[in-house]
Amino acid sequence: MTAPSTVRLYEVGPRDGLQNEQKTVPTEVKVALIERLADAGFNKIEATSFVSPKWVPQMADSQQVMSGISRKAGVDYPVLTPNLKGLEAALEAGVTEVAIFGAASESFSQKNINCSVQKSLERFKPIMDRASQENIAVRGYVSCVVGCPYEGAIDPVVVADVAHKMHDMGCYEISLGDTIGVGTPMDICTMLNVVMDQLPIEKLALHCHDTYGQALANILAGLDMGISVIDSSVAGLGGCPYAAGASGNVATEDVLYMLNGMGIDTGVDLEKVIDTAWFISDFLGRAPDSKVAVARGNKQ
Ligand code: HMG
Ligand code: MG
Repeated sequence: MTAPSTVRLYEVGPRDGLQNEQKTVPTEVKVALIERLADAGFNKIEATSFVSPKWVPQMADSQQVMSGISRKAGVDYPVLTPNLKGLEAALEAGVTEVAIFGAASESFSQKNINCSVQKSLERFKPIMDRASQENIAVRGYVSCVVGCPYEGAIDPVVVADVAHKMHDMGCYEISLGDTIGVGTPMDICTMLNVVMDQLPIEKLALHCHDTYGQALANILAGLDMGISVIDSSVAGLGGCPYAAGASGNVATEDVLYMLNGMGIDTGVDLEKVIDTAWFISDFLGRAPDSKVAVARGNKQ
């Protein structure tokens, strides 16, 4: 198989990881989590979401999180912004990077952001214009790239179309999300082949949830096709409040263990990630949802 010599790990634990937790996580715990991740060597840590607190109450302290963290040089702390209101608030908080999030499924788009796919793309345009005025980098997410909790299998041609449109608007990278973790490696390859007709692989990232235990296999399939940016979440935290059955994201430490074993450089320290997995899991009162952190045990 082929694989890139370096991979950028895009850590989503503080955002995608925590957004679905029922118990409110105090701001200082979120800040400590983000700072530990920065210390572990990530240069992209998705810190929080500037979304409606009525929709995602766990992210209601986004301003406080952003003002609480000591920002490390060379690290970006992107945040989700669904609309101009979110972007304006994020700008006030001094962010340097944001992410817009769309979907390849009409039903998921309605449930998650209360509008159609077409309407969401229209809503993203003013975000892109304002971000460009402020020199803010914008990442784009496409959810439900292989399956949707409401519609079942998704046509890769639709994924490619939405990804292409978001890239054309100015997103520097498109993260392709298997939101409910239903895909298997052939699904990922088929989908990527169709998306790669529209966009070069260097512009794509893979965002796998591990609901059916397929995430590492899917990532391996993506690496073989040239994917070099992987989204993951420390301790396998995560899930989407608007995707029933979406369990955690793939655990960062599991991905990192695999990449280290393959000789792929990430610049991230596995031992520090394992310690961080136990730190947040101890707070949540459960073991990390990852093979590697459990195998190594709690040294906190
Ligand atoms: P809406 O109800 O249609 O919006 O929601 P609205 O404009 O009618 O506003 C409703 C209320 O929310 C108003 O307050 C607004 O001011 C307020 P009220 O007047 O009722 O008091 N509001 C806001 N407040 C703070 N920040 C904002 C904001 N916008 C409106 N930015 C909306 C539309 C998009 C706002 C809503 O649906 C929403 O916030 N959705 C976010 C859902 C979400 O965060 N989902 C999880 C992230 S996506 C994901 O996890 C997938 C991903 O990981 C990839 C993958 O796995 O596939 C990225
Ligand atoms: Mg996700």
